[in-house]
Amino acid sequence: MRGILSRMLKLPGYVHVANDTDQLFDDLGSALIGSAQKAIDQRGEFHLALSGGGTPEPFYMRLVLDPRYRLFPWLQTHVWIVDERCVSEDDDRSNIKMIRESLLYQVPVREGSVHPMPVLVEDPVEDYEQQLSAAFGGLCPPEVPQLDFILLGMGGDAHTASLFPDSPAQGVTDRWVAMNEGDRVVPPPRMTMTYPLINAAREVAVLIAGAGKHDTLKRIEAQLTSGGPDIRELPITGIDPAPVGGELTWYLDRAAANG
Ligand code: 6PG
Repeated sequence: MRGILSRMLKLPGYVHVANDTDQLFDDLGSALIGSAQKAIDQRGEFHLALSGGGTPEPFYMRLVLDPRYRLFPWLQTHVWIVDERCVSEDDDRSNIKMIRESLLYQVPVREGSVHPMPVLVEDPVEDYEQQLSAAFGGLCPPEVPQLDFILLGMGGDAHTASLFPDSPAQGVTDRWVAMNEGDRVVPPPRMTMTYPLINAAREVAVLIAGAGKHDTLKRIEAQLTSGGPDIRELPITGIDPAPVGGELTWYLDRAAANG
């Protein structure tokens, strides 16, 4: 479903603009279920990675409540987490807590197919990479697993996942996940998927709603049109699954697209 194309914003990949968040969630939901069905037809399972943040929470609830998603193939779906705060799973800042409460507790996903980031174990990076490796036939870096669908958000500073401007995890190219903290990382410390893992995905969707994000989108457009990606300052400009045949789609409501 490729609704209205934005004439106002030139961003890499597809730019899908919906009139309001209701329509936006419908369009994203259709794309998601289509992607899940295709993955299952072709490979028997669907690897989905979800973000935290305020924007996707009502979308997750929509997936539970809207009868159109009743047939979503949860039993064949693996749920990975794009990024996580280093807090326990019952802390209100935890992404997995929000994702479980808004979505996963209400759908028939297999508990063994839900993969929270193990932020509090001794070596979280090694642990999560082993989980990914086990789910992808023993694959090891430098090879990279190909997740089917990664849902990202974007902060006002153009961070995505927990890849914040000028932060250490941005430079990690030999791992699939990394820890991240520093002056410009909003506390608490984070764990995040790295650029190599995100950019290896078949589909990457960036969900952005509200006029408050418009100026950041304009900044990104201006940077890409004038000098190309500035990954250090505008981390989301490092998202580019196209070289390996992946697809990037920006899901914007009219307020985000037009200000
Ligand atoms: C997180 C996210 C992060 C988020 C953006 C946007 O855990 O915070 O994964 O990258 O997507 O900060 O957040 P909002 O949707 O709340 O604006």
